[in-house]
Amino acid sequence: MSKPFYITTPIYYPSGKYHIGTAYTEVLCDMLKRYHKLHGEDSFMLTGTDEHGQKIQNKAIEAGITPKEYVDKQAEEAKKLWSLMKIDYDKYMRTTDDYHEKVVQDIFERFLKQGDIYLGEYEGWYCEPCESYWTETQLVDGMCPDCNREVKKMKEEAYFFNMKKYADRLLKYYDEHPNFIKPDYRKTEVVNNFIKPGLEDLCVTRTSFDWGVKVKSNPKHVVYVWLDALTNYITALGYGQENTELFDKYWPANIHLVGKDIARFHLIYWPIFLMALDLPIPETIYVHNFIVMKDGKMSKSKGNTIYPEQLIDKYGLDATKYYLLREMPTSGDEVFTPEDFVGRYNSDLCNDLGNLLNRTISMINKYFDGIVPDYKGHINPVDKELEEFITESVKNNADYIEKFEFASSIQAIWDLISRTNKYVDETEPWVLAKEEDITKLESSMNHLAMSLRAIAILIRPFMKDTSDNILRQLGLNTEVTFKDLDIIKEFNNIKVIDKGEPIFLRLDADEEIAYIKELMK
Ligand code: MSP
Repeated sequence: MSKPFYITTPIYYPSGKYHIGTAYTEVLCDMLKRYHKLHGEDSFMLTGTDEHGQKIQNKAIEAGITPKEYVDKQAEEAKKLWSLMKIDYDKYMRTTDDYHEKVVQDIFERFLKQGDIYLGEYEGWYCEPCESYWTETQLVDGMCPDCNREVKKMKEEAYFFNMKKYADRLLKYYDEHPNFIKPDYRKTEVVNNFIKPGLEDLCVTRTSFDWGVKVKSNPKHVVYVWLDALTNYITALGYGQENTELFDKYWPANIHLVGKDIARFHLIYWPIFLMALDLPIPETIYVHNFIVMKDGKMSKSKGNTIYPEQLIDKYGLDATKYYLLREMPTSGDEVFTPEDFVGRYNSDLCNDLGNLLNRTISMINKYFDGIVPDYKGHINPVDKELEEFITESVKNNADYIEKFEFASSIQAIWDLISRTNKYVDETEPWVLAKEEDITKLESSMNHLAMSLRAIAILIRPFMKDTSDNILRQLGLNTEVTFKDLDIIKEFNNIKVIDKGEPIFLRLDADEEIAYIKELMK
């Protein structure tokens, strides 16, 4: 029996509305959690908010409220969005939770005692929005290499974590665990850019602000956000607390999902902190790319931002999730364009999937009074081919997920949808009906229903409502799991609905493209 599945998103900065890029990590995590759950695994998903630090303190001052009031409000907003997006998380973690703060303090004192943390003085280029210090050589044209904003020289008494001590152990760990960093090229990047040039010790406290976890033995210091933030993955499960039941069950994580901007912190510092704590290291850290606009990063000042609520409101949750997941390549950024969004909606969802369902339901009604004929084996020459294609698609979908190629895992389902549409053209049910070739017609209808059921189950991890809708129209129970993918399941006496209901309405492309462009302003 494999270990229960533990999957996490990063904890989000509660510093404003989340655009579709930020929501991507959450949507991907939710899909994987549901996928594993539908495979019958005991799965646990963690998300939450990363509530300390200067940036948050500044925001609260701007708003004229206390940092605590500010983060309480923001955490509520975040939960509302995840609820609108039907994110199936098991725990919402907040770094201002008492138990978390206490464990962070204990960990800090332990590191001090072990000699992993020492007191020194830090001078460097500090990027306030990213809460990161950079060395002179890391700056790009004198600006922050992550966000391209201004940095300022800062100097302060600070504690440091002795990263150098662990550098060789970390490299050895990477080599011995080829699945730890995914996709593989991220490993090369992190080794060449940060470890080979000489791993620098990490500054882990600040004295310049006080919205954070205070160092117990020297309270003028607050713990610098990354040591505070990263440990959420274990404190959320009860690590260092009285009840460690969840921690014992779920740790180490199977997968942490992170965007490329925070890869460095997860790939270097997090495993080193865990080594210092003598804890097992997560199986995989998957680094995804960014959703960007034609003119670069999404930002309010550029006026090129789009929010998930806006798309969901007009086009529905499933279409929004489908687009985000389907378009993200493993090797580069996903460029959001209204043309692509509307194009995918009309061609993939409305034409390929929607029409297939509609045609099938209306033919079953027309030829067999709505009763799906029984399965009788391979009657049409292409029946066997379609069955094999279903089996193959189920396997391809799983293989791609296993290989962390998520957009391809969805492509595999749409290959099956195309193959099934082709099957309709090949069997020509309208000709069979005219020629009164009933056995072949029965088989054609049965195979179409069979394929649509498989499709409904395969899309379930990211298009739950559409999946329910297809199953309901086919007259099937919506309580399904991946175990029900056994294809030759009999459709004896199943009654489909009397009149098919379109699952996606065709969009007027020009009108909707103009509408989305307007939203982006
Ligand atoms: N608080 C830190 C994470 C600490 S984890 C111990 C943080 N928060 S964040 O709110 O800025 O980012 C949340 C997630 O959104 C991250 O995975 C980040 O990479 C992701 N994204 C932010 N903008 C994005 C895009 N434009 N596209 C895709 N993902 C993006 O970082």
